[in-house]
Parts: sequence; C-alpha cells; structure tokens
Amino acid sequence: MTGPTSSDNLEELKRLKDEFTRFMMLYKFGIDEITTKLNILKEEFTQIHDYNPIEHISSRLKSPESIIGKIERKQYGQDIDDIREHITDIAGIRVTCSFISDTYKVFELLTSQQDITVVKVKDYIANPKPNGYQSLHVIVEVPVFMSDGVVQVPVEIQFRTIAMDFWASLEHKIYYKYDKAVPDSLLAELKHAAEAASRLDAKMEHLHGEVLALDRATTS
Ligand code: GTP
Ligand code: MG
Repeated sequence: MTGPTSSDNLEELKRLKDEFTRFMMLYKFGIDEITTKLNILKEEFTQIHDYNPIEHISSRLKSPESIIGKIERKQYGQDIDDIREHITDIAGIRVTCSFISDTYKVFELLTSQQDITVVKVKDYIANPKPNGYQSLHVIVEVPVFMSDGVVQVPVEIQFRTIAMDFWASLEHKIYYKYDKAVPDSLLAELKHAAEAASRLDAKMEHLHGEVLALDRATTS
C-alpha cells in the first residue's frame, strides 16, 4: 500500500489555497457591490436633493487571522461551509451619518433595493447595549456575479451617527488598552459619555428638523 506522495500533498495545498483565495475574493466583491450602491445614493442625494445623508463610508475585509480567532473563540466547525454560515462579518461596511434619521433613511433606501436580502437586523440605536454602544446593524446578502454563476454574499453594515462613531472608537481603544478588563469607574464614565453623545444626537436632530422646516417655509 502506498501513502500520499509529496506531490499529492502539494496539489492538495494548492487546491486549498485557491479555494480560500476565491472565498475571500467573494467578500471583497460583496464590499465593492454595497459600497457602489451607497456611493450612488450619496451622489444622487447630493446632486438632486442638494443634501447629503452620508458623511463617511469605510470598509474592511476580516483578516484570515481574525477569522481563525473567531472560529476558535466561538468553537464553530472548521470547513469553509461552516465559516460561510457562521461568520457573517467577513465583509464589513460602516456608514457614518450626521443625524439619527439619516441612519434609518440610508438603511431603508439600501435594504429596499430588490437585489438585497436582509438576513438580520440589530437596532442598537433604539436598544443601546448595556455599556452604551449605539449603532444600527444589518447583515444583508448581495448577489455577486462570477464567471461561473452568481453567489449571494453576506455583508455586515453598521449605520451610526458621528457622535456614536466618536464614542465607539474611543471605547474600542480603551477596551484593548485594558486588554478587555476595563476598571468599573471608567466603564461608568464611558456610559455617561454615551448618554451625553445620545443627548447631543437628539439635540442635533431637533435643530436639523427646524432648519428643514425653515427651508420649506421660505421655498413655498
Ligand atoms: P461579533 O462576534 O464581535 O461580531 O459580535 P456579534 O456577533 O455579537 O454582533 P454585534 O452586532 O453585537 O457586533 C458586531 C460589531 O459591532 C463588532 O464587531 C463591533 O464592530 C461593533 N460593536 C458591537 N458592540 C460594540 C461595543 O460595545 N463597542 C464597540 N466599540 N463596538 C461594538
Ligand atoms: Mg464582528
């Protein structure tokens, strides 16, 4: 009986590498598709409605190291089908808006497009996390057209205001600085800061509404 030769091993290694490259590429294309949709909405709004609901769009592809870390942490199965099913944030997009109403508006405009399937929504704006974190999260599937067929690719999108983003980036830095063991006093301060950010958002929304009402009154 003969075992696998080293050239068989090499072939298997190449096959795995190609499979993984193609797998990651699909998520990159998923990001490209959603980013284009968001940029179209942004440009159209700016041109036609003379108003821009999107301040900033950023994206990231989860690194293979983070994917492996998450599989280990959450004890998911380890083949590519398991990863595809469980890790839905390989493609991540963040949309920052000026006002709370804009986060919902852009969410609606994007998710009502006919080729977009909404898989899961978590509204941490209406229901903030206990630490104060706010954002509107959605996992969508977007079709990506490859040479041999179409693939539905999951993409995680986070919609938030500038104030929510400011808070979340500071909280993230603190969380890692203390290696996830943030002292209670700091946690309480962060919670207060989140509440202040939330009050600022409400105030800005109110002012924004007044400006819009003024605009309508002067143009009618
Ligand atoms: P993950 O396993 O981390 O992806 O979380 P999850 O599956 O429970 O999903 P959830 O929607 O709660 O969070 C996903 C992402 O939202 C995270 O990867 C962060 O980018 C962001 N996020 C969630 N909670 C917090 C938080 O408390 N602080 C900060 N800074 N970001 C958060
Ligand atoms: Mg995540």
